[in-house]
Amino acid sequence: MTLALGLLVVCRTTSAQLVEEVPFITTPDNVTLALLQLAGVGPRDHVLDLGSGDGRIVITAARRFGARGTGVEIVPDLVERSNASARAAGVAERVRFLEQDLFKTDLSAATVVTMYLLPEVNLQLRPALLRLAPGTRIVSHDWDLGDWLPDETLTVDAPDKKIGREKFSRLHRWVVPANADGLWCGPGGERLRVVQRYQLLQAQWRVGLREWVLQGRLDGVLLRLLGSEAGPLAGRVEGDRLSLGRGSAPGVALRRSAAADCPAAAR
Ligand SMILES: C[S@@+](CC[C@H](N)C(=O)[O-])C[C@H]1O[C@@H](n2cnc3c(N)ncnc32)[C@H](O)[C@@H]1O
Repeated sequence: MTLALGLLVVCRTTSAQLVEEVPFITTPDNVTLALLQLAGVGPRDHVLDLGSGDGRIVITAARRFGARGTGVEIVPDLVERSNASARAAGVAERVRFLEQDLFKTDLSAATVVTMYLLPEVNLQLRPALLRLAPGTRIVSHDWDLGDWLPDETLTVDAPDKKIGREKFSRLHRWVVPANADGLWCGPGGERLRVVQRYQLLQAQWRVGLREWVLQGRLDGVLLRLLGSEAGPLAGRVEGDRLSLGRGSAPGVALRRSAAADCPAAAR
């Protein structure tokens, strides 16, 4: 039986009730390293660990990867222990631990969010995670985010895992996608219609009298569409602007449109 069944105790409805059920269980050291490597953590990152326990993820991010970090933890003793460990590790200048409810935490400063919580808690956090800046990486130990499928999942041996008979951990990574959903119009009558579900895209691309149906995905603000001789198309979403091109050819500058259709090209 995995940690899943060990911890899946209840089916309750409110956040407060749910988080009371998230116990303190540490991520083993080798899994912590693998999690931070999966997120690609580096010196320019700010790592936010939601439910930071004894602080190991944030402290390791600072000590081994040169990142800054914040741990949010509801148990006062664990916050105290984390601060002492940060001082002992010589990273107290770069990390901080807040005694705080993770559901009342502003997530916006994070470039990387780490979690070892429970499936229901992850699902409750999902709307807030989707509102983070495009390109923010999210990594989770063992639990996924429901139908927001991970961009990558890996399994690592975890002989020191404190719970469950299976001594391995699943690690998942997501990159917060930009919003590419809707209608985009180009200066020459080009039209891109996009239906977006999380990072996955279905699109129709029209140039002149020709039209292609394409599938694709977003990696943060970077978009890639495949599926016809018109592809692969690569693009970048910046708010209401999307540049779309092929290879190194100059892209078409599209603008987001609230209209039902794009205006036809001027003749
Ligand atoms: C499974 S432990 C993970 C600890 C650490 N992140 C790690 O991976 O080693 C989950 C932690 O979340 C904390 N926690 C539970 N509910 C919380 C809440 N509402 N706000 C902040 N922390 C919470 C628990 O006290 C516990 O330390």
